[in-house]
Amino acid sequence: MLELDKINAGYGGAQILRDVSLSVAPGEIVCLLGRNGAGKTTTMKAIMGLVPLMSGAVRLNGADLSSLPAHKVPGHGVGYIPQGRRLFSELTVAQNLEIGLMVRKSGADVLNGVLDLFPRLRERLDQRAQTLSGGEQQMLATARALCIEPSYLLLDEPTEGLQPSMIEAIRQVIVVMRDRGVGILLVEQRIDAVLSVADRVAFIENGHNLETLDADVLRKDHSVIERHLGV
Ligand SMILES: Nc1ncnc2c1ncn2[C@@H]1O[C@H](COP(=O)(O)OP(=O)(O)OP(=O)(O)O)[C@@H](O)[C@H]1O
Ligand SMILES: [Mg+2]
Repeated sequence: MLELDKINAGYGGAQILRDVSLSVAPGEIVCLLGRNGAGKTTTMKAIMGLVPLMSGAVRLNGADLSSLPAHKVPGHGVGYIPQGRRLFSELTVAQNLEIGLMVRKSGADVLNGVLDLFPRLRERLDQRAQTLSGGEQQMLATARALCIEPSYLLLDEPTEGLQPSMIEAIRQVIVVMRDRGVGILLVEQRIDAVLSVADRVAFIENGHNLETLDADVLRKDHSVIERHLGV
């Protein structure tokens, strides 16, 4: 279980997150939804140790993750695909993946398994990341995170700016990872992009998390979504 227990966090003196609590179980897809500036990315950064906690804790299978330096967190099996992808743009596809493999000293078998999910990347191993299409870059960022063989995966708006076929490809990979028992925390702005695959949906507003609902409830009653997102 990946667990956020009443975390308070922010940047410098500015507190952004207030008592945010959230959990993701193995094999579960939890969506974090909220408007621009609500604190979704900050929540992910707090999990990854990229913003300091003022109080509260992040736990992985009961162990305190928040006491670790940020560079140690992926080694514990938490993969992070940041908003905007953050690839090494001068490096090739293969070199970007190599960086992912180094985190847990994984070998060719892991790389092969990841490339099986992304045939387009296998055809482009020697291509520089900056020359990939937007959708291919998202695939590379996702593939790199999978190279650490994560038990939890955090994806921050993975479908932003992508065409429907690419969105579908990313969604399929998310479902495959879920079926393999990976716990997934997925940030999206558009509820329709995620509702079909979500198990639970957590709403965040002004750094507070509101109720977390079973996705089934939302699929049956859209008014709840409208109430929380004002759409
Ligand atoms: N490095 C930073 N320094 C200071 N404030 C920041 C920093 N990064 C984000 N913030 C502020 O924190 C708040 C939450 O930002 P965050 O990026 O978590 O929002 P978000 O929910 O991911 O929004 P979006 O949907 O636009 O990506 C915003 O008010 C933002 O201006
Ligand atoms: Mg964001």
